[in-house]
Amino acid sequence: MGRVNESERVTVINPARALWNQRNRVVAAGNRLSKLIDAVARPNDLPPHQWAQFFALILEFRPEVIIELGRGCGNSLSCFLEAANQLGGRAVCQVHSLDREDNWTPTADRIKTFVPMEWFLPANVLICNILNFDFSSIVQPGKRHLIFWDAHGFEVAECVLGKLLPLLVDQEHIVAMHDVFDSRYECPPPGYGSAGLWKGANAEEQFFCLENTISSVAQTISVIDFKNRNHIPFHSAGQSFVEFQRQEQEETKELQRVLGKDFFTGFANWFWFTLAEAEGEVTFPKVINKELTLVEQLEQECKLLKQECKLLKQENEDLNAGLASVNNSTAWKLAQRFYRLRDRAAPEGSWLRTSYDWIRARIR
Ligand SMILES: C[S@@+](CC[C@H](N)C(=O)[O-])C[C@H]1O[C@@H](n2cnc3c(N)ncnc32)[C@H](O)[C@@H]1O
Repeated sequence: MGRVNESERVTVINPARALWNQRNRVVAAGNRLSKLIDAVARPNDLPPHQWAQFFALILEFRPEVIIELGRGCGNSLSCFLEAANQLGGRAVCQVHSLDREDNWTPTADRIKTFVPMEWFLPANVLICNILNFDFSSIVQPGKRHLIFWDAHGFEVAECVLGKLLPLLVDQEHIVAMHDVFDSRYECPPPGYGSAGLWKGANAEEQFFCLENTISSVAQTISVIDFKNRNHIPFHSAGQSFVEFQRQEQEETKELQRVLGKDFFTGFANWFWFTLAEAEGEVTFPKVINKELTLVEQLEQECKLLKQECKLLKQENEDLNAGLASVNNSTAWKLAQRFYRLRDRAAPEGSWLRTSYDWIRARIR
């Protein structure tokens, strides 16, 4: 997969080689991955070839902590959980998933129909705003971290670059950025045609071409700025696939054969970097703390209450189901029959009932 220099804590990954090295495990997990992809039902958010690439990357890089920024309906989270379970479960790899929305619960309900409950254990599903999240609560000193960045915008970028990354300077880590295309291989820049300028709308039709990237999400601009100030290489996962296909033609055919056209396309459409490759001391942007407006605070509170309500409803349903099974049990039915007979033969207040109660009290 590349090299991990423990003394300098420099990690260089090679996504194409990771897929090659882990191909047998990807094939073995193929049915499970396909079922998860169907359960999430949002293939445009993370297409199958990226599922295979991230699954292989995690098996190869073996992160102990994964921080997912932007869960959406749960493609990346499901992929990471499958990989974390393959690595050995929660004791080996924890997945912290951050999103302000809860679109995971319905996905998890569908996944529960075909995985055991332990499958979910590596997950720490957080419903929170990345802008005011305390990253020190999840970064673990001395552990290997993988950051998957899929939440858009300049404000998120400011928090990630200014609050999260400083905590990772001395930790082995890589930051994988979704939604960045390599303009040399993956998506050659077309003319403007009928398209207008990119004016700040994330993940919409308009895009920008900067250096060798094409992207429609603001954080790409912030990261290009950040990596230029710090002289950090910004690696194209797509480039690793182009080079692999040039150098390893037989292996490429083998990948196409065993993975099929869904799990192997030869493209990646994501980039990655690590602070370990910075030339000097790393400089970070200052985070301008934005006070939440009252409306935002109320919205957050409302979300938490809704979540609590959902949990209570579930608890109530579980209790009712338990009660129904008690009511339906043979012992319960026999006891009910006995009490009815007793009340008919020895009604409350009768001498027979008084004697019955007296004897029962002595037996107890
Ligand atoms: C493109 S989606 C993520 C897709 C997901 N990674 C997948 O594989 O399906 C981006 C997510 O980032 C979340 N997001 C954006 N800004 C955020 C913020 N400030 N705090 C928390 N979540 C945020 C959005 O709610 C959205 O669900």
